[in-house]
Amino acid sequence: MIALAASGISKRYGGFNALSNVQLNVKQGEIRGLIGPNGAGKSTLIDALSGRDGKHSGRVELFGRDITALTPAQRRALGLSRSFQRTSIFPSLTVRRQIELAARAVGSTDTNDIMDEFGLLPFADSIAADIGYGDQRRLDLALAMTGQPKVLLLDEPAAGLSFEESKKLAQHLRAMATRRGVTVVLVEHDMDVVFSIADSITVLQVGTVLAEGEPQTVRANPAVIEAYLGSAG
Ligand SMILES: Nc1ncnc2c1ncn2[C@@H]1O[C@H](COP(=O)(O)OP(=O)(O)OP(=O)(O)O)[C@@H](O)[C@H]1O
Ligand SMILES: [Mg+2]
Repeated sequence: MIALAASGISKRYGGFNALSNVQLNVKQGEIRGLIGPNGAGKSTLIDALSGRDGKHSGRVELFGRDITALTPAQRRALGLSRSFQRTSIFPSLTVRRQIELAARAVGSTDTNDIMDEFGLLPFADSIAADIGYGDQRRLDLALAMTGQPKVLLLDEPAAGLSFEESKKLAQHLRAMATRRGVTVVLVEHDMDVVFSIADSITVLQVGTVLAEGEPQTVRANPAVIEAYLGSAG
């Protein structure tokens, strides 16, 4: 079953085509890695999928339902959640308070479970600004996972983490996707991390899909190597 389908997504900033006729079909339970050089349009695509930017052309479907006209909150209520490239936590609130607010917004009560799942219980009563950066990124993920969404759009959830921490976060995601059948679109710049956990990879380059497929196939694609992997080392 296709969990998330996007077709003909185009986005212009002035005269610049940030996305040109992008198609994306993500199966239920799949982890899709979304990669591409800086400025390729990854965040712009996540914005279009999540409804953060309504001004694009094309169509977005969630489990076959057309959600193109829906707001981010409406999409969230239907089970489509996201995180941001820069953390979206409120630094002055406690961890517990933020999880409670996120839970209330989606009509959920599993606040302790979600804190437990993301290893946040020891920090539950700490102010978010006071916990470590790695814990803040886990809080970010926990906020996105509150209410058990069906599809998660994650824009560099491991940004700023060490390689070891990134790998741990990725393994956590992998386990979660498997256990709950959550579908994940993961923007991640560390190739080792994304190739190790993704079921399939989509490569964007200046707003178009350059390649798509299983990680090994994409990794071996000469166009991908030339456009991206070669320069990334
Ligand atoms: N608000 C905006 N106004 C004008 N141009 C924008 C705006 N937002 C993004 N762009 C441009 O659109 C293109 C795609 O940007 P986007 O942020 O989606 O790239 P990205 O793949 O997420 O890059 P990164 O890896 O750096 O996060 C870039 O050229 C960027 O400069
Ligand atoms: Mg980005």
